[in-house]
Amino acid sequence: MMEKASKIYVAGHRGMVGSAIVRKLQAEGYCNLVLRTSAELDLRNQAAVEKFFSEEKPEYVFLAAAKVGGILANNTYRADFLYENLMIESNVIHQSYVHGVKKLLFLGSSCIYPKFAPQPLKEEYLLSGYLEETNEPYAIAKIAGIKLCENYRRQYGCDFISAMPTNLYGPNDNYDLNNSHVIPALLRKFHEGKINNSTSVEVWGSGNPLREFLHVDDLALASLFLMENYSDLQFVNVGTGKT
Ligand SMILES: NC(=O)c1ccc[n+]([C@@H]2O[C@H](COP(=O)([O-])OP(=O)(O)OC[C@H]3O[C@@H](n4cnc5c(N)ncnc54)[C@H](OP(=O)(O)O)[C@@H]3O)[C@@H](O)[C@H]2O)c1
Repeated sequence: MMEKASKIYVAGHRGMVGSAIVRKLQAEGYCNLVLRTSAELDLRNQAAVEKFFSEEKPEYVFLAAAKVGGILANNTYRADFLYENLMIESNVIHQSYVHGVKKLLFLGSSCIYPKFAPQPLKEEYLLSGYLEETNEPYAIAKIAGIKLCENYRRQYGCDFISAMPTNLYGPNDNYDLNNSHVIPALLRKFHEGKINNSTSVEVWGSGNPLREFLHVDDLALASLFLMENYSDLQFVNVGTGKT
């Protein structure tokens, strides 16, 4: 059980998800957080991650570090999204096993599901069909992360769990037009449209995909809840249940 003084490493603490988890942990009185920026600790670097875990020996790990972007970035930097995410996850999850981390929560994304999976998305639909082509590399990396957690539990008994949140929004989001997710991109486009008195705003896509939006503080709450109450092989979807 996580204690207030337990040593907790939040990987990716400056990102939208990591920063929300840090806010929540601090609000709940957890006072022994270990935090590193990517400049201080490049999680793609196996030797650096090994050194960090042997020096710091965190007891609990929230893995919210990832190379993240919207459709355009995912489709353009396909090799980077695959390679960097595989490296980050493999290094953090393996070193968590080697150094006896008591529990780890890996954060993925609902883009892991097949393109034509029925709605609402259920965990059992994983690997039941082809992925969306534009973000296939990212999704493959995230599926590998789920499978790492699952199989370190099966082979070594590690208490590693995974959560797959839906589309998120909230503080520390990225509003870059080429690199952002759907909500920040729409906010920026309409904000600029209003300022510039535009008569129209161009929105990407067909409008057909179903979207479910979750505030990142609610994801942080769910992450803490899972860390405190859930230990199983099956990864868990996190959403509002409303599209
Ligand atoms: N945003 C969404 O709508 C959404 C939805 C579902 C799931 N998720 C998941 O939540 C997780 C975090 O997403 P986010 O939106 O919070 O992303 P984000 O705001 O881009 O933050 C990602 C963080 O990862 C860190 N990072 C990236 N590469 C790194 C490296 N090589 N070494 C160390 N740290 C590195 C960055 O650290 P620095 O700031 O120090 O560079 C950054 O703070 C991802 O797994 C994503 O799939 C996000």
